Amino acid sequence: MSSRQFFVGANWKLNPCSRDEKKKLIDMLNNANFDKNTEVVVAPPTLYAIAVADLLRKDVKVAAQNCYIKASGAFTGETSPTQLTEAGIPYVILGHSERRTLFHETSSLVAQKTRAAIDAGLSVILCVGETLQERESGATDNVVKEQLGEVVKLVSSEEDWSKIVVAYEPVWAIGTGKVATSAQAQETQKATRAYLASALSPKIAESTRIIYGGSVNDKNCRELATQPDVDGFLVGGASLTPGFVNIVNANA
Ligand code: G3P
Repeated sequence: MSSRQFFVGANWKLNPCSRDEKKKLIDMLNNANFDKNTEVVVAPPTLYAIAVADLLRKDVKVAAQNCYIKASGAFTGETSPTQLTEAGIPYVILGHSERRTLFHETSSLVAQKTRAAIDAGLSVILCVGETLQERESGATDNVVKEQLGEVVKLVSSEEDWSKIVVAYEPVWAIGTGKVATSAQAQETQKATRAYLASALSPKIAESTRIIYGGSVNDKNCRELATQPDVDGFLVGGASLTPGFVNIVNANA
């Protein structure tokens, strides 16, 4: 059994839209019986991050879903990593496929954001993953390497990597109900760890948590959690349901 702490993140994306829904989600989390050995992080929309952090039990951490590379200045609509730190938000999700695809974020920009976030004192949930076409053409490992490679150029110390959780999220599995098989997740996450070992060091590879995201639910999470290189989950749709509690406890 690995010494890496199991990690489960809830990515609420652009939900919920009403105060009532937000309250229901917070109540669900505050009343849940969570495995004490699992690190739980919730990423609400930025607008709600401070309020959620205030209302949420203190053993659950809050993440932003994105941030910019600059601390301040004329960057309309952006949130800076320093502002997140100042607001007491410890984590940020970077490189999610929705940001890469819909908002044209390149791997180079994601790497700069990762550098800036760590410099500001944040921890990062760094998302990588291939499209269906890339998987079918056998390019999965190379795509993940290219995405991580840009980060490795800017972030290489053991201390900095202790602030990063890598989230392997195949694009074809996100929001589709088509979860990767546990063998597929294990194979790619093992290859990702091997890449970190060769590009950085075996020690960093061994200690970095690599989690899986993409149609995880309370039915498929236990099987995925048995895989040696699956150190937890990043959960979208199912994080808005009571089933999220079982996902947090998948490793218990
Ligand atoms: O970041 C989580 C994610 O993109 C997966 O979403 O809805 O497939 O669990 P979902």
